[in-house]
Amino acid sequence: MATLKEKRTCGQRCEDFRRFVWNPDNGTLMGRTPEKWVYISLYYAAFYAVMTSLFSLAIWVLMYTLDPYAPDYQDRLQSPGVMVWPDSYGEEEVEITYNSSDRASWSKMSTCLHNFLEPYNASTLQEDYDHNCTKGKYFIQNHFTPHTHTKKSCSFPLSLLGPCSGVQDPTFGYNCTMPCVIIKMNRIINFLPSLNSSQEIHVNCTVLDGKDNVKKIKYFPEMGILDKSYFPYYGNLAQSGYQNPLVAVRLDLVGEQWAKLQCRVVADQISYQNVHDPYEGKVIFTIKNLK
Ligand SMILES: *[C@@H]1O[C@H](CO)[C@@H](O)[C@H](O)[C@H]1NC(C)=O
Ligand SMILES: *[C@@H]1O[C@H](CO)[C@@H](O)[C@H](O)[C@H]1NC(C)=O
Ligand SMILES: *[C@@H]1O[C@H](CO)[C@@H](O)[C@H](O)[C@H]1NC(C)=O
Ligand SMILES: *[C@@H]1O[C@H](CO)[C@@H](O)[C@H](O)[C@H]1NC(C)=O
Ligand SMILES: *[C@@H]1O[C@H](CO)[C@@H](O)[C@H](O)[C@H]1NC(C)=O
Ligand SMILES: *[C@@H]1O[C@H](CO)[C@@H](O)[C@H](O)[C@H]1NC(C)=O
Repeated sequence: MATLKEKRTCGQRCEDFRRFVWNPDNGTLMGRTPEKWVYISLYYAAFYAVMTSLFSLAIWVLMYTLDPYAPDYQDRLQSPGVMVWPDSYGEEEVEITYNSSDRASWSKMSTCLHNFLEPYNASTLQEDYDHNCTKGKYFIQNHFTPHTHTKKSCSFPLSLLGPCSGVQDPTFGYNCTMPCVIIKMNRIINFLPSLNSSQEIHVNCTVLDGKDNVKKIKYFPEMGILDKSYFPYYGNLAQSGYQNPLVAVRLDLVGEQWAKLQCRVVADQISYQNVHDPYEGKVIFTIKNLK
């Protein structure tokens, strides 16, 4: 059999290997003469040096042309997303399910809201707040000072959320039938939500399902207004102390105590009918008290 004939002993293989490593007949080391090894090493060293410097040059040029204070590519997000807290997800959408008579159940919701509001707590306020914030007017800060390229931010005191601030009622209404949810709009750099000077930017919630179970919807601040002085946002580097304005929505649940709601941020520059992004300009959630 041919294969058997080709089978070699271990000693022969070792000998082959030794000849591969150093072949005294033609003076090659691993198949190449030492001079060839030197040439090939030099070639690769030069090759990698050129590649590395090209790559570094490309990165340097890129970094040099990037403005650290503003994103270069902002074509994807034109209208901000809207979110709701407590952010407890069900199968697919936000489902805020609680049991007002079960302490463990409602304290989960209130802990979530406490954690969310913690950065807004007055004790953690930073220095660069409240500089010439005029309510109802965009806080435009276009002056450019190269070395201190920082902008001021208007503070958002928790007291604006009234009974939903967690101060008077640490349960946020989850121990009864008047739960609070908090609506937040995502930040977009240099975005002005409304160009119509007479229109207030506000949150409007509508009951999509279970209308009979919602007796009243109250907004804090009044009318669900997101004051213009919180816009525009200049980016984290320029405006590190920025806090998103919030709107708290307090529901008064009756009857079966469940409802499906849609909360929309209403402003002429915010669209909400994008079928590809259900969170653009609005958020839909269900809230249910198991009792
Ligand atoms: C709600 O909590 C109460 C008290 O713990 C309990 O008796 C009741 O069964 C709970 N309801 C539901 C639907 O889980
Ligand atoms: C507030 O506005 C006044 C007058 O417009 C100006 O002199 C002052 O520097 C401003 N303060 C800050 C902190 O921007
Ligand atoms: C704000 O901070 C104080 C003190 O740290 C704390 O007692 C209070 O519960 C906090 N408020 C909220 C809403 O988290
Ligand atoms: C819910 O909690 C608040 C604040 O702790 C309290 O004033 C209120 O009586 C509680 N309500 C019920 C129904 O337990
Ligand atoms: C501006 O807003 C007001 C009040 O909401 C509205 O009546 C008016 O039509 C708006 N104008 C434009 C140009 O959108
Ligand atoms: C909220 O939107 C609904 C439907 O678009 C409208 O009927 C209602 O008047 C609005 N409410 C407020 C306070 O803007």
